[in-house]
Amino acid sequence: MYKLVIEGASRLEGEVEAGGAKNAALPLLFACLLTDEPCRLTNVPDVADIETTLRLLESLGARIEKPARGELIIDPSAVGSFEAPYDLVRRMRASFLTLGPLLARFGRAHVSRPGGCAIGSRPVDIHLEGMKRLGARIQLEGGYADASARKLEGGHVIFSMPSVGATENVMMAASLAKGSTRLENAAREPEIVDLAGALIKMGAKIRGAGSSVIEIDGVERLRGMDHAVIADRIVAGTFLIGAALTRGDVFVRGARAEHLESLLDALTLAGCRIDVDADGVRARSGARPCPVGIVTAPFPGFPTDLQAQWMSLMCVADGRSEVHERIFENRFMHVEELARMGADIRLQPGGHAVVTGKDLLSGAPVMATDLRASVCLVLAGLAAEGVTEVLRIYHLDRGYEHIEEKLTGLGAVVRREPMESEV
Ligand code: EPZ
Repeated sequence: MYKLVIEGASRLEGEVEAGGAKNAALPLLFACLLTDEPCRLTNVPDVADIETTLRLLESLGARIEKPARGELIIDPSAVGSFEAPYDLVRRMRASFLTLGPLLARFGRAHVSRPGGCAIGSRPVDIHLEGMKRLGARIQLEGGYADASARKLEGGHVIFSMPSVGATENVMMAASLAKGSTRLENAAREPEIVDLAGALIKMGAKIRGAGSSVIEIDGVERLRGMDHAVIADRIVAGTFLIGAALTRGDVFVRGARAEHLESLLDALTLAGCRIDVDADGVRARSGARPCPVGIVTAPFPGFPTDLQAQWMSLMCVADGRSEVHERIFENRFMHVEELARMGADIRLQPGGHAVVTGKDLLSGAPVMATDLRASVCLVLAGLAAEGVTEVLRIYHLDRGYEHIEEKLTGLGAVVRREPMESEV
């Protein structure tokens, strides 16, 4: 087990790569199960969730090559197992995205249900409803979804909420179904658009990805693909918030403003100067941020995956603001840890927090609880006076590649150290 030791207060300045999007790369890897031809992915981030996914694909019979950094060749021709075991799915909910591809290609899937996690119960009912609309028979027993279908058939799916994972799962399944499928109230995230783009390269017939209505005409078979993963908008947003938090000046290469509009609007209101060009996005600030409240929402609203990072910023704002989390029921695990650093945050019933900014936070040992909570504590440590130790950074390694190198390259004093004892 490792911890990050951060010496504050520091100022982030310079240029950093956004890197490939974890939440685009994961569904793209599972899409490889839809074909028996080799697939090549580039700009794949070097993070733990990708490693977990590659192990899962290998357990299904796929062969993986890593010719260069960020590049993967997946050969799915020998895939013969249809089981995504609990031991892998419990560690990474995205493993449930094996359901659609395995059902579509083989007519069989035995996938463990993910169970809850730190940020919420995270059911999969919307995924399962969608598969049933495509003609799948699904039995839930022993914590597994046992699904079968002689041949999936196109159907009309109206999602009860715009679930990112359910949209991805059903879009992949519908690509090989017989006939046409219409998805309504579909998620609109850029990662959905990236997945649709790769499926179209494979021969899928998909229209409307990025809007709330997606139409898919099923085809007999799909071929391999060669696809570059889009930039990670959440990692990019994290560094831009870091610039605001440390009154710094950071250019995030690869960041795409059209994927970050709600954040860039909030940063501008908080007093940051934002510059955008074809190569990336720059944020700079020379003063304490103004208080700006946020409400998380499906894309293009403010991303729930940046809520914790925004809260860190509001902890040093010049006034009071409200943070409303409307996507997950328990995504405030970082509040108590920020309070240990002197933050003034009051949790209110109904899922919102009132943050009263302070001039400075003070360094302290704090505990990471989930991926985005861990990075919010790192950001707070950069702005705090004194030393902050963030424990259990395996959460961080799930989604942030080489975080200490990237922060050190921006002028932070951060180092990874082994933890004295298992906690
Ligand atoms: C994806 O999770 C992301 N993960 C999450 O990022 C992100 O927070 C989330 O979308 C929302 O943007 C990946 O892409 C791998 P949802 P997903 O289905 O697909 C409820 C990170 O930090 N729901 O859009 O699981 C659910 O409980 C991670 O990188 C159902 O009720 O999210 C939640 O409250 C965290 N039934 C809401 O919908 C279902 O069948 C949004 O979930 C599915 C979801």
